[in-house]
Amino acid sequence: MWTGVLVAFAAALAAVTSAFPQRRQSDDPSGYEYIVVGSGAGGGPLASRLARAGFKTLLLEAGDDQGSNLNTSVPGYQAVVTQDPKIRWDMYVNHYQDIARAQLDPKFVYDVDGAVFTTIYNGTDVPAGATPKGILYPRAGVLGGCVSHNALIWIEPHDSDWNNIQNLTGDSSWSAENMRDTYLNKRVYQWQSTEPTDPTIVARDVKLAKHLVGGAAEIGLGPNPLNALTGLGELLLVSPNGGYADRDSTEGFFQIPLIMTNGARKSVRDWIVETVNDGYPLTVMPNTFVTKITFDTNSTSGKPRATGVEYLQGQYLYTASPLSGGSGTPGSVSATREVIVSGGTYNTPQLLKLSGVGPADELESFDIPVLVDLPGLGSNMQDRYEIPINTYHPDDFTILDGCTFDLKSDDKCLTQWENNPYVLAQKGAYATNGLAAAMGKVSSTSPTGDVDLFIFGGPVNFQGYFPQWSDDAVKDHQHFSWYTLKAHTQNKAGTVTLRSTNPLDQPDINFNYFDTGTTASGEDEADLASLVEAVKISRGALQHFHDYDLLLPTTDFTEEEPGKNVTSDADIGDYIKQRAWGHHACCTAPIGADDDPSAVLDTNFRVKGTEGLRVVDASVFPRIPGIFIQSAIFMISEKAADAIINGS
Ligand SMILES: Cc1cc2nc3c(=O)[nH]c(=O)nc-3n(C[C@H](O)[C@H](O)[C@H](O)COP(=O)(O)OP(=O)(O)OC[C@H]3O[C@@H](n4cnc5c(N)ncnc54)[C@H](O)[C@@H]3O)c2cc1C
Ligand SMILES: *[C@@H]1O[C@H](CO)[C@@H](O)[C@H](O)[C@H]1NC(C)=O
Ligand SMILES: *[C@@H]1O[C@H](CO)[C@@H](O)[C@H](O)[C@H]1NC(C)=O
Ligand SMILES: *[C@@H]1O[C@H](CO)[C@@H](O)[C@H](O)[C@H]1NC(C)=O
Ligand SMILES: *[C@@H]1O[C@H](CO)[C@@H](O)[C@H](O)[C@H]1NC(C)=O
Ligand SMILES: *[C@@H]1O[C@H](CO)[C@@H](O)[C@H](O)[C@H]1NC(C)=O
Repeated sequence: MWTGVLVAFAAALAAVTSAFPQRRQSDDPSGYEYIVVGSGAGGGPLASRLARAGFKTLLLEAGDDQGSNLNTSVPGYQAVVTQDPKIRWDMYVNHYQDIARAQLDPKFVYDVDGAVFTTIYNGTDVPAGATPKGILYPRAGVLGGCVSHNALIWIEPHDSDWNNIQNLTGDSSWSAENMRDTYLNKRVYQWQSTEPTDPTIVARDVKLAKHLVGGAAEIGLGPNPLNALTGLGELLLVSPNGGYADRDSTEGFFQIPLIMTNGARKSVRDWIVETVNDGYPLTVMPNTFVTKITFDTNSTSGKPRATGVEYLQGQYLYTASPLSGGSGTPGSVSATREVIVSGGTYNTPQLLKLSGVGPADELESFDIPVLVDLPGLGSNMQDRYEIPINTYHPDDFTILDGCTFDLKSDDKCLTQWENNPYVLAQKGAYATNGLAAAMGKVSSTSPTGDVDLFIFGGPVNFQGYFPQWSDDAVKDHQHFSWYTLKAHTQNKAGTVTLRSTNPLDQPDINFNYFDTGTTASGEDEADLASLVEAVKISRGALQHFHDYDLLLPTTDFTEEEPGKNVTSDADIGDYIKQRAWGHHACCTAPIGADDDPSAVLDTNFRVKGTEGLRVVDASVFPRIPGIFIQSAIFMISEKAADAIINGS
């Protein structure tokens, strides 16, 4: 049923791409040199770079272009955009395979006669007959991938991320120095600009300023309480991306750089469009869901050689889209040089497995003919752990006055963002993602000695992802959260396996959190211990809020989650194990040594045992990089382009 039917390709192409700006369309549709599947953090920069090098490149993307949708461009809509049905893919994952344990998380989602239900949002007992779905993991099916709907945060990777890959592969081009000098500074920063939140926005809200200054005080950098507000402005000049010695291990209180230009999101999607508009030979085919990679199994080397892909055309085909339902029009296209898969951590292993590349036993159990046995594909999955402390004030944060977060006509913050220039904070609250500053700490169990706790403060009620999480996070203006992101986690026990042979079905995704994951040398305990430290640091910051009570009187707050009664390390640990989540899933097609049977890719991103096939996205990392992952993905995307262009 999924075997591609050859259609009149040129006609289909013209119909689908007419809405997309482009100058040079291939005269010979069979003449694409490279096909890139997926336009996100991994595929977008790569396809752009190949085209800029003069190669005829076809970029296939399941979603469409939402660049003129304000949800994607207004930084203040970073939560709302993840709920946009035209963009979102609702993936469901398991943190624990023991369902009773998984259901201790109030974010656990059930299906009740087609309606979603969570106790955190719907607020009552689980109705009888509810079917368990798992934990919501937001993804984006849109031009630019998750970069078009993410939280915009830009933190450069740590040196240890790259030196580790250099160690594994013996390839010195992975050295941290080369990665930074060549791929970050010369390539990525050619097209990616960043801006921090303007400190004067936050300094206007006294309650918010007191919370943030409290965070700085907890880190030991508290300004003189007599000039806390100007002191905050100075503190927020410090970038987490350095400009000082020993950046990776330096604790501090940091501003948060965002992927924006003049207060609007600008990133991968815009670089792709610019590449097309500048006349480079890049063809973008939106609304095209790739179902299979085709191979020549008769090549002279004896290795299967990727020749192209089969796809379905139509809007919202993947069942993770809330608008899905259609079955699409089948087609296929070939590449004279290579196929590069950039579907992301979940979809890349799914697509390769459906094409006959992956663990032989798993493929055989679905009667998929095995072209290449790659036992490591779809395992080694890693993610961060994130956990909040949420507080409630009896009155509003004034910074959010007039912000309805819904793009309706009464959204005064949108009017301000649209009508004002990007100077002196005039664009207001929507020129920030709401998380203006973070405490950076090296926990006592940091495996690399790098900063591994990033603790953000912002006037939201953020408790992780669940259906309507955005509505919940901003439904009042009275909450403040310190929210921890734990980096350099040591759990490598996540898996992505097939659920069926229908490419439009979501795969089975298991993270195997904490004691159900990597435990051999106490890694689970180390991860948990650092998160317990983070909760205590967050509480310390909340205490320091009161340092400024005399000079800057405001209302007091109450801690809602985890709550005043959760105090012992064991109780805090239980709260974390029940509630933690992640959103930087990676590492399901890891690069590794040639003699490592669990490695999926060689040092040049080639899928082992094949020809003409590479993977370039979040799945390529052997270990989860840095603190925020998109910078590292942009860098490997540029590195892969070099490898391909130089013939490696
Ligand atoms: C809510 C949220 C907030 C985040 N915030 C941040 C942040 O602030 N900072 C940060 O650094 N990181 C953040 N991230 C993570 C970051 O955005 C992702 O890790 C990154 O975008 C992953 O890149 P990728 O190329 O692997 O996949 P993606 O960006 O997901 O791109 C994959 C693309 O492939 C397409 N695709 C998949 N399968 C197919 C197929 N079969 N055929 C055709 N197309 C296909 C998809 O539609 C998608 O466009 C966030 C993630 C989420 C979900
Ligand atoms: C933005 O997203 C919301 C869902 O969060 C949706 O209701 C709204 O229609 C979207 N706006 C646009 C312009 O598409
Ligand atoms: C839970 O709340 C959401 C949002 O209001 C609603 O759409 C959904 O139907 C509710 N679930 C059930 C089972 O009532
Ligand atoms: C690389 O290997 C060397 C020698 O084994 C080791 O000392 C070093 O810590 C390793 N570096 C990383 C980043 O793993
Ligand atoms: C495989 O290659 C051989 C020799 O080049 C050729 O004779 C044969 O027809 C090919 N088979 C297929 C299926 O293409
Ligand atoms: C703390 O109080 C809440 C609300 O009463 C309760 O649900 C929770 O079990 C308590 N936790 C502990 C560790 O006592």
